[in-house]
Amino acid sequence: ATSSIWGGRFAAGPSALMEAINASIGFDQRLYAQDVAGSKAHCVMLKNQGIIPEDDALKILDGLDRVLDEIEAGEFAFSPALEDIHMNVENRLRELIGDGAGRLHTARSRNDQVATDLRLWVRDTLDGLDGALKGMQRDLIDRAREHHDDVMPGFTHLQAAQPVTLGHYLLAYCEMLGRDRGRIADCRARMNESPLGAAALAGTSFPIDRLDTARRLGFDRPTANSLDSVSDRDFALEFLSLAAIIAVHLSRMAEEFVLWCSAQFNFMRVSDEYSTGSSIMPQKRNPDAAELVRGKAGRVIGDLTSLLVALKGLPLSYGKDMQEDKEPVFDAADTLELCISAMSAMVRTAIFNTERMKKDAGKGFTTATDLADWLVRVLAMPFRDAHHVTGALVKMAEDKGVGLEDLSLGEMQSVAPGITEEIYNVLGVENSVKSRTSHGGTAPENVRRAVDEARRRFLD
Ligand code: ARG
Repeated sequence: ATSSIWGGRFAAGPSALMEAINASIGFDQRLYAQDVAGSKAHCVMLKNQGIIPEDDALKILDGLDRVLDEIEAGEFAFSPALEDIHMNVENRLRELIGDGAGRLHTARSRNDQVATDLRLWVRDTLDGLDGALKGMQRDLIDRAREHHDDVMPGFTHLQAAQPVTLGHYLLAYCEMLGRDRGRIADCRARMNESPLGAAALAGTSFPIDRLDTARRLGFDRPTANSLDSVSDRDFALEFLSLAAIIAVHLSRMAEEFVLWCSAQFNFMRVSDEYSTGSSIMPQKRNPDAAELVRGKAGRVIGDLTSLLVALKGLPLSYGKDMQEDKEPVFDAADTLELCISAMSAMVRTAIFNTERMKKDAGKGFTTATDLADWLVRVLAMPFRDAHHVTGALVKMAEDKGVGLEDLSLGEMQSVAPGITEEIYNVLGVENSVKSRTSHGGTAPENVRRAVDEARRRFLD
C-alpha cells in the first residue's frame, strides 16, 4: 500500500528494506512529548489566526492530549511503517478524531517540526545536565570542606611536585564543572529560537504568527531564516561538544581515582558499592565504576564525531542524513547522566587515606621550592641562585638516600653558609601548604574560604 501521509503520487509502497532504513520511530519516539507540545502550539496559533476552523482545532487539541496519555500509559502502538514520531502521532490523531486531523499540518512540514522537537528535547536535557553537575559540585565542595587541611603530594608530569591540600584538589574539579555549566548556559541561550513555521524550507503563504508559537514553546524568538531553520543542527553539535568536554572532565577525574586506588598510590578506596572483585585473584578490588566512566568518555566523543561527519557534506537545507542526528544526541545524554551519577556517588563515598597522603606529601623533595623561596626571602638571594643552591642540596640528600629535612645544618651551610636553623621550619609539608596563601593557592585557610565562595558561586 502507498503511504497514507505522502503516498498521493506513488503507485506502490516502500519495500521492507526501504522501511527498515527509513524508519526512525525506534529512537525518535523519545521526542513524543516535544512533538505533541509543538503540535498544540501550532494548532492554537492556526486557530487564532483564522487559518483552521475552531471546532477542528479544539478536536485536534483534545486528540493530542489523548495521544500523549496513550503514549505515557504505554498503550500506544508505534508503527515503523509510519516512519517517525511525527507521522505516528498524526496517524493516531486521525484515528481518534477523524479527517479534521489533517488540518494540523497546514503551514508546517516535518522539517520544521523535527527541528523544533529536537531543540525542545536538547533544551530540557541541558537543564537536567546542569542540575546533575550542580549536584556533583555540591558533593565535591562537601568533601573539600571535610579535607581542607589534609596534606597530600601535588603532581606535575605525575612526578611529586609540591605539597597541596586534598580540599584544594577536590575544588579544582569543582571549577572544571563550573566552566561546563557555563558552556551549558551559553548553548541554551544561543539555541533557544523557534524554527517552527519555517515549513519545508521557504516559509509559508499562510498568515501564521511565529512569534506566538515561539512564545508558547518557551523560545526567546523565532529563527530568522527559513532555510537555515530546517538545516541548522548547530545546537545539537554544541550540545555534543559540551557533552564531550564534560565526559573528558569526568574521565580525568576517574583516571585520578583509578591511580589513587592502586596499591602503589594507596590514596583512597572506592566504596564497596562501586567496586568489584576478580573471579581468580581473591585479593582484588577493582574501581570498575571509575574505569567505566573513563571508558564511556570514548562513546561521547564518538557521538560528537558522528554528527560532525554526518553534517559536513550537507548543502542547504534539510537532507535525510539529518535524521542521524538523534541517536548520538540521545546516547550522549544517557551516557552522561549515568556517568555523572556514578562519579558523584564515588565522590560522596570515597574513603581517602589521609595518613598515606600525608606521608607521601614530603617524598620526592617536594619542599625544595620552599627552601629556595626561603633563601630568596631571608638571604636576599636572586631566585635563580637559590634554585641552583637548592638543586645542590637535593643532590646531596639524594646521594645519601635521605630527605632534605634530614641534612644537618653543617651540610647545608657547606653549600650556602648563610643558612640557619630556621630553614627546618619551611621543610615540613604542613608549613609548606600553610604558606601558600596567594589568591587561589592551596593553604588550608584559603581552602576554607574557597569552599564558602564555591557554595555561593555554584550552589545558590
Ligand atoms: N524523521 C525525520 C527526521 O528525523 C523527520 C523529517 C522528515 N522530513 C522529510 N522531508 N522526510 O529528520
